[in-house]
Amino acid sequence: MIYMLDTANIEAICRAVDLYPLAGVTTNPSIIAQENRPLKEILLGIRECIGRERMLHAQVMGSDAQTMLLEAIAMRALDPELIIKVPVTQQGIKAIKLIAAKDIRITATAILTPQQALMAAVAGAEFLAPYVNRLDNICSDGINLAAEISLLIKHYHLNAKVLGASFKNVQQIHQLALAGAHSVTISPDVFDLLLSHPLTDSGVAGFRADWEKIYGDNTNVLDAL
Ligand code: G3P
Repeated sequence: MIYMLDTANIEAICRAVDLYPLAGVTTNPSIIAQENRPLKEILLGIRECIGRERMLHAQVMGSDAQTMLLEAIAMRALDPELIIKVPVTQQGIKAIKLIAAKDIRITATAILTPQQALMAAVAGAEFLAPYVNRLDNICSDGINLAAEISLLIKHYHLNAKVLGASFKNVQQIHQLALAGAHSVTISPDVFDLLLSHPLTDSGVAGFRADWEKIYGDNTNVLDAL
């Protein structure tokens, strides 16, 4: 599983880089706008925090393919490793073809149907981002969407990966992993929940209490050897 963090908050990103096996960071225009700072400053700040080896995804905002291409080129001039997110509209698919022709890595985003994903992959997108929770919210099936996209990738031997996005709980992420998704991008609050269990906490507290009765308060293995 490729784990990514879905935020532009530098503090949350640096914390997650330190704690987790994080492969990258994804942003979208809403996430960027929440920071209320210049885009250049946000992207350079994230890159400084995650280093060159991790992925950073940022989205174009143009309403026509040519503008999206120019945005992609300008963003890559700022960050040569940036992965460009493009929504799967008609102009977006055209932009994916144009951007892929420049050998720029692409994430197709705002995917709500398997056919949007399939066409984006054929057009040249490397990551395909189905919006799981947004479908679940309207009594549709986000996990099934991701599963069908995985199937289509295999069926057509496409060089693309499912990047599950839009999660509100751990169960959605678990089901997505079982459905064969390659990667996920998760908000910081839900990311922390992936490890959360009260029996883990009470188990660790029990180990500490038993240990300290014999080896003393606040000691560890180094003190006891
Ligand atoms: O970044 C794309 C996706 O993760 C958005 O999630 O929570 O706004 O539906 P959400």
